[in-house]
Amino acid sequence: MSLLIKNGRIITAEQDYSADIYIEKDKIKTIGLSLDIQADKIIDAKGKYVIPGGIDVHTHLDMPFGGTTSVDNFETGTRAAAFGGTTSIIDFAIQAKGTKMRTALDTWWKKAEGKATIDYGLHMIVTDLLEADLGDMGDMVKEGVTSFKLFMAYPNVLLVDDATIFRAMKHTADTGALVCMHAENGGVIDLIVQKALAEGKTAPIYHALTRPTSAEGEAVNRAIALSQMAGAPVYIVHLSSNDALEKVAEARDHGLPAFAETCPQYLFLSLDDMNKPGFEDAKLVFTPPLREKWHQEKLWAGIKKNTLQIVSTDHCPFCFNEQKELGKGDFTKIPNGGPGIEHRMQLIYDGGVRAGRITLNRWIEITSTAPAKMFGMFPRKGTIAPGSDADIVIWDPEKEYTISAKTHHMAVDYSMYEGKKVKGNTDTVISRGEVIVEQDKFLGKPGRGNFVKRDTYGTAWN
Ligand code: URP
Ligand code: ZN
Ligand code: ZN
Repeated sequence: MSLLIKNGRIITAEQDYSADIYIEKDKIKTIGLSLDIQADKIIDAKGKYVIPGGIDVHTHLDMPFGGTTSVDNFETGTRAAAFGGTTSIIDFAIQAKGTKMRTALDTWWKKAEGKATIDYGLHMIVTDLLEADLGDMGDMVKEGVTSFKLFMAYPNVLLVDDATIFRAMKHTADTGALVCMHAENGGVIDLIVQKALAEGKTAPIYHALTRPTSAEGEAVNRAIALSQMAGAPVYIVHLSSNDALEKVAEARDHGLPAFAETCPQYLFLSLDDMNKPGFEDAKLVFTPPLREKWHQEKLWAGIKKNTLQIVSTDHCPFCFNEQKELGKGDFTKIPNGGPGIEHRMQLIYDGGVRAGRITLNRWIEITSTAPAKMFGMFPRKGTIAPGSDADIVIWDPEKEYTISAKTHHMAVDYSMYEGKKVKGNTDTVISRGEVIVEQDKFLGKPGRGNFVKRDTYGTAWN
């Protein structure tokens, strides 16, 4: 199969130019002006942007959590991702306490098998790490699982102590892998939560009000200090507040390899979107929670200054009916997580590029190129260049779209952005040389997505 994309405006993290792209099988073969090459299919991209497929490095598909399981599996989740212009994800396998990471890896491969419609990598969530288990981490790296998430939050479920974090970081310092940190002071938050419940504060908004920004700032500071002592880089996931941002900025000013992502929910939603009557706020219960609105512009400034390198989604969808409802009368029982895999590219394009906050190049950098570099996939993915995987999105900057649960492709029964109008959307989505979305129709087959065996952090990062 060969494909020729003609007349498009190619946007990468560094460049912006007009040229044709010739794709042979799964790779980009040639880029040039007015290419005169025969191809099985020709796409006219006049008036459109031709961009590298989005890479979402933080998703939770088919994940058991909070007494239930996230509602998108690898089929529905990756299909929704593709509609939104994301052609690769990195999902999280979870090591069950007291078991081998190998078992978790096999379990997650099975979840993806026959279902994934786009390429996927896996991080490993570490819940247990005795000295004797360090070999497991080395085994994961050999399998291409080159990043490990550890939690400073969720006591008695996922939280690990500082010694465990330090042990993991010492190991990644040697192997070149990367520790991803959920940074919130879980122990202190738990005490605040227990007090709120004792006072009868059980509504969903108390999930947000019992998780102060300083609990995030403190944990980010501690994570960075631990990584400094271990001589390892650290990547802070789903950073939500200015308190946390300042700690990352300070570390980076000192030249430390501290990195962070934020997510669209922290850039576009705030506490002002909560306080709805009844149980409605449960739709916006995720962790870290929404913050006061003023944090949003600080996060945008952090993106601009490269204190934040990546925007991922933390897609962790639970239906309002039957799943979020588990927490009626007790906010601690609401499964934590929100849906977002489908709309990241649109939201950042519309609210970032069109709103004049970031450039087109920066849009591509934070949604595709930096994710590929940070997580060992560059230049295979994250750019448009000869030899790279032909993961390409033809983006229509004029296409208008109203986000709604009625039309989205995620399996979840609500949208966090219901009724929001955005301009700019996918026209055609190509994954490894195969057109998988065309004119709002899905053409990809479940199971066509490959596991991406990733290199270690830093192999292409500067
Ligand atoms: O609320 C969230 N974020 N759920 C997913 C698990 C996590 O902490 O990333
Ligand atoms: Zn987390
Ligand atoms: Zn997450």
